[in-house]
Amino acid sequence: MTRVTKIKIVVVAVGIMLSAIVFTGGRSSAQTQVETAGQKFKNIKVLNDMPADQMGQVMNIMSASLGVDCKMCHVSNDKDFEKDGIDHKDIARKMIKMTWEINKTFFEGKPEVSCNTCHVGHERPVALPSLLPPAPPVERPKQPAVKPTVDEILAKYETALGGKDALARVKSRYIKANRVEPDGKTVEPEEIWLKGGKYRSETKYGDYLVTELFDGKDARKLGNTEAIELKAFEAEQMKRDAQLFANPDIRSIYAKLDFRFLNRIDGREVYMVTATTADNRREQLVFDVLTGQLVRRVASAMTVIGQFQYQVDYSDYKDLGGVKLPASTRFAMPGITWTRKIVEVKNNTVDDAKFTSPK
Ligand code: HEC
Ligand code: HEC
Repeated sequence: MTRVTKIKIVVVAVGIMLSAIVFTGGRSSAQTQVETAGQKFKNIKVLNDMPADQMGQVMNIMSASLGVDCKMCHVSNDKDFEKDGIDHKDIARKMIKMTWEINKTFFEGKPEVSCNTCHVGHERPVALPSLLPPAPPVERPKQPAVKPTVDEILAKYETALGGKDALARVKSRYIKANRVEPDGKTVEPEEIWLKGGKYRSETKYGDYLVTELFDGKDARKLGNTEAIELKAFEAEQMKRDAQLFANPDIRSIYAKLDFRFLNRIDGREVYMVTATTADNRREQLVFDVLTGQLVRRVASAMTVIGQFQYQVDYSDYKDLGGVKLPASTRFAMPGITWTRKIVEVKNNTVDDAKFTSPK
């Protein structure tokens, strides 16, 4: 197989694990034919040719676009997804076909129109224009006469974290944190170990322990001692979060970095930087102009019904163990959000074995 086709297959073999679904198939590998949804799932009438790996993302995009949960179209929120009988499921099948048809007929097959284009978070799109005055457009700030270079932005970020020397003193980190669910009340304790781009996290959901491991090469996920299938996209994000955490050496992570423009987010001026990966996928890195801090990363993966977006917001930078770290990190993707709040950091106590042994 040529390199180009391999990359293509890796790009389409993306997906996220939905805790609600037990995926039965094996992991898609670049060497094997991509398994389709038609092959893997039980009652597929429209999404037959979609890579099976995308099922979770597509279902989450549809739910988030309509502002509903799985039960709007399925008999339950956590099982029997193959069952028919809810009218909305059949309407959704028609809507998927319609969306494809619109893009094919009017947008040269480009994924311009998605469920959200019409639904914008509502079960039923609003046909009538609003009679209220339109909200004023959000304008970009005045662009600088001389564009900042990426090196300047990264140097400023390094300073914001506490400087080269302070960063060099931290060889590894143990972090105690809380995973705060969107209701703001449900909280699961988390422990995180980081060393040289390697990562381990353990999240306790009562008796159920979810472990995520990235040993510098491969990513794994376990529920208690059982392996949980990890989608390519999930593995990629775990790796990136591990590499990026309080690391100003961003040039070593991406193939290319470009400053795009000055923007405004929540009233703050920010530098928008496009980061291109070695396999030519683009991510967005956002740096606060005033503080120099990295405040956002956005990545996305293409699905058969449009982009699946993954956004990480870093905030509340605090001196934790001699270096400034984002005490709050919010992870968001269609239908799923949570916030990691750091409680405590211990430097230089992590053993390498933490990243190899699942125990
Ligand atoms: C707007 C309607 C809608 C929502 C909301 C929705 N689904 Fe679906 N789902 C469908 C449709 C339609 C199919 C069948 C697609 C086909 O026939 O090609 C399907 C199929 C599935 C399948 C494949 C079942 C099988 O074996 O055939 C799974 C798994 C699934 N959905 C999970 C979910 C989960 C989990 C959620 C919530 C996060 C969800 N869905 C939300 C419409 C929906
Ligand atoms: C071009 C605009 C458009 C797009 C794109 C679109 N829809 Fe719709 N959808 C509508 C309209 C309009 C209705 C309401 C029809 C009605 O009132 O009978 C609707 C209704 C629905 C309903 C029924 C809601 C109810 O309560 O009766 C579902 C389910 C639905 N859409 C799912 C989807 C999904 C899933 C997608 C993406 C795959 C999608 N739609 C894409 C325009 C769109």
